[in-house]
Amino acid sequence: AVGARFYHEKVIDHYENPRNMGSLDKHDPTVGTGLVGAPACGDVMRLQIKVDDDNNIVDVKFKTFGCGSAIASSSYITERVRGMNIEEALKIKNTDIAKELCLPPVKLHCSMLAEDAIKSAIKDFRTKRGGELRSAPASA
Ligand code: FES
Ligand code: FES
Repeated sequence: AVGARFYHEKVIDHYENPRNMGSLDKHDPTVGTGLVGAPACGDVMRLQIKVDDDNNIVDVKFKTFGCGSAIASSSYITERVRGMNIEEALKIKNTDIAKELCLPPVKLHCSMLAEDAIKSAIKDFRTKRGGELRSAPASA
């Protein structure tokens, strides 16, 4: 890790007090799991969302094996997407995260991990939902 003085205080706050760290049950049909890695450094982020019938994100948890900026980006995105509709959440750009946390250019890919992770979690949720609909009885 690089000395904390190189990081913006928002990064340090999220890094030292990460919000929403943990896991959700990946077998729950209302939970989507995104697992992504950063090719640049091999860091890994898992982000999970729980979605209600109106496609709103009602719970969100993360686990990140990575640098301080990746952990801060994860923590930040969990706060950002809680209560958001999945369509809105899909619009979050890594550059928004980087800007919010004042990440330096060399740390941009850390925020990319968070964008990829939320997209991947939403995709997983939709795949599950699709499966659920297909397996529903044809006539009721
Ligand atoms: Fe070492 Fe990200 S490259 S923690
Ligand atoms: Fe690779 Fe931060 S250095 S995710």
